Amino acid sequence: MRRERENVNNSLLEETKIIRSINYDQHEIILDIIQLHCPWGIELDPTYCKGNFYRHSGIRRPKYCYDINPRDPSCLQGDCRQLPLEDGSIRSIIFDPPFFVTTEKSGKHGTMSTKYSYVETIPELHSLYEDSLKEFYRLLLPRGILIFKCMDSVNGRRNNFTHVWVMNRAEQIGYRAIDLFIKLNKSVPICWNMKKQNHARKYHCYFWIFKK
Ligand SMILES: C[S@@+](CC[C@H](N)C(=O)[O-])C[C@H]1O[C@@H](n2cnc3c(N)ncnc32)[C@H](O)[C@@H]1O
Repeated sequence: MRRERENVNNSLLEETKIIRSINYDQHEIILDIIQLHCPWGIELDPTYCKGNFYRHSGIRRPKYCYDINPRDPSCLQGDCRQLPLEDGSIRSIIFDPPFFVTTEKSGKHGTMSTKYSYVETIPELHSLYEDSLKEFYRLLLPRGILIFKCMDSVNGRRNNFTHVWVMNRAEQIGYRAIDLFIKLNKSVPICWNMKKQNHARKYHCYFWIFKK
């Protein structure tokens, strides 16, 4: 009976195209965010990397694209903490900063952290996020939108609830959290050398929506 009711609810969601807070597909999440919160599109991507967000996804490439280490000729070199743009000149930003905390010494220096870049300590991660939040606040027009992708992590047997830290710091700076989407993974890389599991393995990341 409960299963039948769930099936009816799910097909109603599909038919009425209700936007859900969870999804396995990050392109669908970004398209949903654009539809709900910035129908004019995204104007700035300060951590562009290879621009995977815009590849065969139907998401329009932003007018301004930067990365500290550009890997695509269409992307400019720039530090997201200090961008060459005017105060109050941008209506929407998508920010996908490094989220791996790892050192070469720790031996956890894998392909994913090399591909998407990394920081070495949690304070370094927090400092990058905080300085960037302040810079985006300077750049955004009043009521401008910041989409912030982040992920929680475990370091030294400790859970770091980064998404909570990000929301608290953003609100202290002056943003208002107006929505939250969760991207689910069907699978994640396994650490075969782990002796004892202390925390739930994370199969998800977040897309915060903040309004200036
Ligand atoms: C997780 S990747 C972004 C992936 C990208 N969204 C994509 O879809 O291809 C993080 C990127 O942030 C860049 N980055 C790290 N620190 C930065 C900084 N201070 N300023 C600008 N970009 C930075 C890295 O070079 C890396 O390309």
